[in-house]
Amino acid sequence: MMRKGLAVLAPGTGETTIGVKLGERSYDIVIGKHLLDGAGTRIVATLPGARCAVVSDATVAALYMERLKASLGKLCLGDVVVAPGEPSKSFPVLAKVCERLLKLGVERGDVVVAFGGGVVGDLAGFAASILRRGVRLVQIPTTLLAQVDSSVGGKTGIDTPQGKNLIGTFHQPSLVLADISVLETLAPRDFRSGYAEVMKYGLLGDAPFFAWLEEHWPQILSGKGEARASAIATSCRAKTAIVEADEREESGTRALLNLGHTFGHALEAFAGYSDRLLHGEAIAIGMRLAFSFSAEQGLCPASDVNRIEAHLVHVGLPGRIADIPGGLPTPDELLQLMAQDKKVKGGRLALVLVRGIGQAFVEPDIPMNRLRAFLKRECAAS
Ligand SMILES: NC(=O)c1ccc[n+]([C@@H]2O[C@H](COP(=O)([O-])OP(=O)(O)OC[C@H]3O[C@@H](n4cnc5c(N)ncnc54)[C@H](O)[C@@H]3O)[C@@H](O)[C@H]2O)c1
Ligand SMILES: [Zn+2]
Repeated sequence: MMRKGLAVLAPGTGETTIGVKLGERSYDIVIGKHLLDGAGTRIVATLPGARCAVVSDATVAALYMERLKASLGKLCLGDVVVAPGEPSKSFPVLAKVCERLLKLGVERGDVVVAFGGGVVGDLAGFAASILRRGVRLVQIPTTLLAQVDSSVGGKTGIDTPQGKNLIGTFHQPSLVLADISVLETLAPRDFRSGYAEVMKYGLLGDAPFFAWLEEHWPQILSGKGEARASAIATSCRAKTAIVEADEREESGTRALLNLGHTFGHALEAFAGYSDRLLHGEAIAIGMRLAFSFSAEQGLCPASDVNRIEAHLVHVGLPGRIADIPGGLPTPDELLQLMAQDKKVKGGRLALVLVRGIGQAFVEPDIPMNRLRAFLKRECAAS
């Protein structure tokens, strides 16, 4: 189902373009260095006549807004800057963003530019999808997580006290510009959090890519050489293939992207969507749990669990529930939070399980007694 092998940068250009083929909703993902400075030209080429309103967060705006605005020039209607962090994915902030976009004069033919990490991408993407019944969206992702995952595929949304991303839309962008130079200012912890989603593509469908990550992670983390750009391009190709096969998560293929996410979302909810546990950190623990649970059910070799645990230690990501600082959840707390995730159908809990590295599948009806027993052991393990 997924393309095997590694993406290679086009020689000479230092840029990779990946086409996402979704009929009239098709678009390009461009990955390269210093793309910010040419963003205006590319947006004009993709969406002639559109004016832009930029949505960002305070950290990204302080670092890069001037450069982006210089590139947009007269196209720019203005900006909306929200507070950094997950709490901005909320109804009150969404309302403020929509009202400000209207005040800036965004019309049907204009474009909202989501300029930031996954939080800004999900929030601005949702705002674009409902503003004047839908305006176009350009994603300029600035975190590793946003470049390899959230900016591609069209899922937008906000969180509610009932859970993460429970309110949202599908709204594909018209263009994604992933400028890898901006990752140099990203905090190492945020970079590692995004790396968990890079790992995910290897673990769910591309064992050779995971083996390549086991070899190249030091260069990916340091940013030396071309390994980082290559890892981002391979991740985007993997996500693109899945989104093309199942744009709206209807056939089950797209659900594979949720590897580690039902566990992970429950852990994030338990930790209060806070700095205690970043999204990618929760997903790192979640993927390890999905592999361990699969191994316990006799589905997956224990040696694969060991490889994942070793890799998480190397890159500095957590792998155990006990790695979350500030107290452990009870198994029942976790089960309740997992049941609130979107993967519940007719009272049955579906989970992405694995037959090994690169072999994920959706199990639509998890035996709850086995899951409870597993979580009991995991919540106690230190
Ligand atoms: N829509 C999807 O398909 C999808 C997929 C995966 C994750 N997500 C969502 O993405 C969100 C997490 O995204 P994230 O990890 O990017 O978090 P984030 O957007 O909160 O960014 C992390 C931190 O990095 C800062 N930052 C961003 N770019 C920077 C840069 N270049 N230099 C310095 N600092 C920078 C931000 O201000 C923030 O403090 C979650 O809400 C998750 O649900 C969505
Ligand atoms: Zn994720």
